Amino acid sequence: MAKDVIIACDFSSAEQTLAFLDRFQGRKPFVKIGMELYYAAGPDIVREIKKRGHQIFLDLKLHDIPNTVRKAMAVLSHLDVDMCNVHAAGTIEMMKAGLEGLTREDGTRPLLIAVTQLTSTSEQRMHDDLLIGASMEETIAHYAENTRDAGLDGVVCSPLESPVIKSRCGENFITVTPGVRFADAAADDQVRITTPARARELGSDYIVVGRPITAAADPVAAYERCIKEFLG
Ligand code: C5P
Repeated sequence: MAKDVIIACDFSSAEQTLAFLDRFQGRKPFVKIGMELYYAAGPDIVREIKKRGHQIFLDLKLHDIPNTVRKAMAVLSHLDVDMCNVHAAGTIEMMKAGLEGLTREDGTRPLLIAVTQLTSTSEQRMHDDLLIGASMEETIAHYAENTRDAGLDGVVCSPLESPVIKSRCGENFITVTPGVRFADAAADDQVRITTPARARELGSDYIVVGRPITAAADPVAAYERCIKEFLG
C-alpha cells in the first residue's frame, strides 16, 4: 500500500500557497487543501496544484443529507483530486451516497476517507455536548467500522488510534493521521502527538503534517526529514 507524507497547506491565498510549493524543486509533495484555502481560492487552486504534478487530498469534510453529499461529490469528482473526505457522523447511508457521487462514469474515483471524531473533541465534550455515552476509543472504532461497511477506504485519526482501527477494520483499511511533530519541536495546539517515525511504527498509511513544515525556516529540509523518518 502507498505510504506518504501529506503537507497541510493551510494558507489563505493562492499566491502564498504557490510561492510555498515553488520551493520544492525535487520530489513533488502530496498536498492537503483544506476549507480555508478552498473557500479563498476555489477549484482553480486545485487545478493549478494538480497541473504542477502534485497529488491532492481535498479536505472538505462533507456532512449533509445523503442526496446533497452525493451531488457535491459528483462535482468534486471532476476536479481529479486523489483523496476526499466526509464525516462518518453523517451515517452509513450518507457515506454510501458520497462514494456513489464520487465514482466517475468509467468506475474510477479518488480515495474516500471519513473523519471519526475530530481530535479537537475531548471525551468529556463528546459525552456532554454530543450525548454520546460510549468511550472515545469505542466511538472511533465503531465509526471506523461504519466507514468500512459503507465501502470507503479509511479514516482520518490520531496515529495512536491506528492500531485499534487496523485490528477492527483490517490492515488494508487506510489511516491518515495528523498530529505529527518532530521529537525536538513544539506541539502547538495539537494534544495527542507522535513523531513521524513512531507514526510509521503504529501503522499510519499517510501522515498529515502542517506547521512543522510550513512554518519551518527551511520547509524543504523539514519535509525531507519527515519523508526520511516516516518512509525510512
Ligand atoms: O499544523 P498541523 O501539523 O497541526 O496541521 C495538521 C492538519 O491536519 C491541519 O490542517 C488540521 O486541520 C488537520 N487535522 C487535524 N486533526 C484532525 C483532522 C485534520 O489536525 N482530526
